[in-house]
Amino acid sequence: MGRQTPETYSKAQIVLHWAVAVIILFQITFADGIEEYGDALRDGQSPGTLDTILGNAHIWLGITVLALAVLRIALRLIQGAPAPVPAPKLQDLAAKAVHVLLYAVLFITPMSGIAMWFFGVKEAGGPHHLIEKVIVVLVALHVTGALWHHFVQKDNVLKRMLSSKASA
Ligand code: HEM
Ligand code: HEM
Repeated sequence: MGRQTPETYSKAQIVLHWAVAVIILFQITFADGIEEYGDALRDGQSPGTLDTILGNAHIWLGITVLALAVLRIALRLIQGAPAPVPAPKLQDLAAKAVHVLLYAVLFITPMSGIAMWFFGVKEAGGPHHLIEKVIVVLVALHVTGALWHHFVQKDNVLKRMLSSKASA
């Protein structure tokens, strides 16, 4: 995608990757809050304090993920990304496919949430609910791949997403 092929990801790309990973984990772990909050408002009741906090956090952190996803794509186009390390063609393809699908998730999830919450598009609820399972499967594959590179292939794939000074 990028024109340049640096040795590692830039500091900004690394910070964004891990910040988004933490937010996604939060969104999935505490999704009950937004469900309770939404239900209470729909039923004309006043939501509890914790549900109000978690509900609002879900909405604004979700919108933040969308903004950060745009920023990540922009940075990737400007700064590029390291070339894939030598690996079997099928593994290379699988890694690329998972990355593309993860990026898709980073756009589709918040956009469907926004459509449902702010614009009352009921149909957006379907994809938004499905996404939890999709994310879990994709992240499991993604983390397995990262650990495989680190412990089996013993290359710098994990290191270059941890430090912009990682050597090959
Ligand atoms: C990366 C961002 C996001 C992730 C990973 C995420 C994830 C989730 C998950 C896992 C659920 C629970 C679904 C279920 O139990 O089936 C949920 C529910 C919900 N999310 Fe999000 N979400 C994100 C962004 C947003 C945004 C930006 C909004 C609104 C502006 C939003 C609004 C909602 C609402 C209203 C519900 C409750 C739906 C219901 O009760 O039917 N989400 N989200
Ligand atoms: C513990 C969890 C995670 C680990 C260990 C991890 C590890 C990595 C590593 C090592 C890379 C670099 C791959 C390479 O250089 O070829 C990477 C890239 C990437 N990760 Fe993760 N990751 C995690 C969580 C996540 C999550 C939650 C998401 C998004 C939902 C995500 C999305 C991405 C994307 C889109 C890329 C491609 C970056 C690019 O080249 O533009 N990761 N991850």
